[in-house]
Amino acid sequence: GGLHSLFVKSGKLFFGTAIDTNNFNDVAYQAIAKNGSEFGLYVPENSQKWGPTEPTEGAFVFAGPDAVDAQARTNKQMFRCHALTWHSQLPQFVTTTAWTRETLTAAIQAHITALVRHYAGACYSWDVVNEALNDNGTFRDSVFFRVLGTDFLPISFAAAAAADPAAKLYYNDFNLETLRAKADGAARVVQLIRAGGARIDGLGFQAHFVVGGTPSQASLTATLGRFVDMGLDVTLSELDVAHNSVPAAAGALQQQARDYVAAVGACLAVPRCVGITVWQFSDKYSWIPGTFPGKGEACLFSANFSRKPAYGAVVDLL
Ligand code: XIL
Repeated sequence: GGLHSLFVKSGKLFFGTAIDTNNFNDVAYQAIAKNGSEFGLYVPENSQKWGPTEPTEGAFVFAGPDAVDAQARTNKQMFRCHALTWHSQLPQFVTTTAWTRETLTAAIQAHITALVRHYAGACYSWDVVNEALNDNGTFRDSVFFRVLGTDFLPISFAAAAAADPAAKLYYNDFNLETLRAKADGAARVVQLIRAGGARIDGLGFQAHFVVGGTPSQASLTATLGRFVDMGLDVTLSELDVAHNSVPAAAGALQQQARDYVAAVGACLAVPRCVGITVWQFSDKYSWIPGTFPGKGEACLFSANFSRKPAYGAVVDLL
């Protein structure tokens, strides 16, 4: 069996991947992506974000994520939805309008209602708010925080809950796995959402790790458990493990394998860790080199789709 079927045998719901329509005409890529034994869930890497889905106010574009959803349905894969209220990849109107509390609240509600309704019944979960925190645990400067303070949190989660009562609603962020102050900030996010009368179901740990700098399985298990203790599901939502320099030597590939095993092992050790999504499965399409120049080769498959040592190590663990 592949990653997903083995992970399901271990009691998990999914082992999934980020994917998007720009990958769809790559035959070798698609042969793996459509193998439901390997990947049991898709999340659109970019096309479901606010910029691409509502480029001008009130005019919605669903073609990209609809196509990702359609391929998932065809292959009986799950669909995770990403992302609603996020400071990045916003359309120009969100960053340039002179908002008041009332008008920005209405714009957030309109966006979330349209997106979540369109995919109601299709999305296993939504990343409702993404990356609201700085690494020190304070709130990131964004149009949302500037105009609404922390009220944008319950406003976003309440709108999503109303539009699809069945979708699991997640707060998603990075570096929660390694930075205690940021994890404390995420606990405050959960409390603020609940204090505002809204529902949150889960915490997404992006799990963008670096070879040799990945938290140990024990430390990651403890961090996940902290949020399970708050009554939440948890997931590794964007797992990858980047080499600091490429091409990676044989020893670095072995360390990468141990790092992947620590991450997957932590999810296995926490019953309410529902699944794992890798942020692309092939180095050919990883976001890492474009965003972090010099780093790369972060995925389970090489650029020519051969299985790397990390792939074998994860399969052995499962
Ligand atoms: C990244 C995509 O992978 C890139 O293609 C894009 O240029 C920028 O966004 N955290 C997230 C994801 O929540 O949406 C980001 O995806 C990676 C970091």
